Amino acid sequence: MKTTFYALLSSAVIGLTVPGYAGTPYHTPGGQIEYNFFTKFTEQEAKEVAEVLARATEAGRAAILTHLPKILDPKIGDKGIRPDNFEELLRSILAAAIPKLTPVQKKMLDKYMEASGMVIAYNQDRLNVKGVGFKYVLPASWAKETNMIFRAMTGIPIKQSGPFYRIPTGIPDAFEKEVIAKFGKRDYSKPPYGEFGAIGTIGKQKVYRQVIPVVANIPLCLKCHGDDKGSLDILGYEKEGLKLNDLRGIISVAVPIKE
Ligand code: HEC
Repeated sequence: MKTTFYALLSSAVIGLTVPGYAGTPYHTPGGQIEYNFFTKFTEQEAKEVAEVLARATEAGRAAILTHLPKILDPKIGDKGIRPDNFEELLRSILAAAIPKLTPVQKKMLDKYMEASGMVIAYNQDRLNVKGVGFKYVLPASWAKETNMIFRAMTGIPIKQSGPFYRIPTGIPDAFEKEVIAKFGKRDYSKPPYGEFGAIGTIGKQKVYRQVIPVVANIPLCLKCHGDDKGSLDILGYEKEGLKLNDLRGIISVAVPIKE
């Protein structure tokens, strides 16, 4: 019975593939990212927005990291991490990087906090489960989810990319590859780690692009991204073989400019 079902299913799948692509599902080409940008900015505003979004992603990653020992502890149930206190922590970390926000930075940061709050809220069950160590709540997973919601709200992409990426949304484009090559040559033994910004285009849309490095600057990073290259981390990913203070990745933002 089971065999018949799978036989039927696979023939149905084969029936749906397109000639010339035998055996592979058909991917529809085309589609431009610029159709997704809902709010556009002046050049100056775009710079400010790109900066605050890159630094907010960095600050949120650091905020999750602050909580990580608690998050990974199987003995603790309720971790007490809520949208409001997480927002407070993120904003206090961000204030060290950007002490005074411009009006447009304030507005876009409020939207970003709305997205972050949703992520913290819907992850409550996962965060607070007892008896499980690794719950897949990490700096990178918080940033991935927050940035996906923020992009749905605004159209603005905030990518975690780099010389390594564990998920396909991290594939660097040509511009990002160049920046990664530049960043790879820097010394990250102490902050600040710097940044790179430039005007460019994505599809037909003029954008301001801001990129900041993400450095494996504490030993905890190496537990999952470290030394013993190829051995598996807690989630079964192959470790990338990094040493302390190596570049692990980038945060890359593109903000549309009005023309
Ligand atoms: C408990 C394991 C663990 C620890 C500790 C950890 N990471 Fe990760 N990291 C991961 C996993 C798993 C992913 C992929 C997450 C996903 O599915 O989006 C990831 C993704 C990333 C990414 C996004 C790019 C990519 O590969 O998709 C960066 C950047 C990153 N980590 C940097 C760091 C840094 C820097 C530290 C230390 C401050 C750190 N990580 C600590 C497991 C970890």
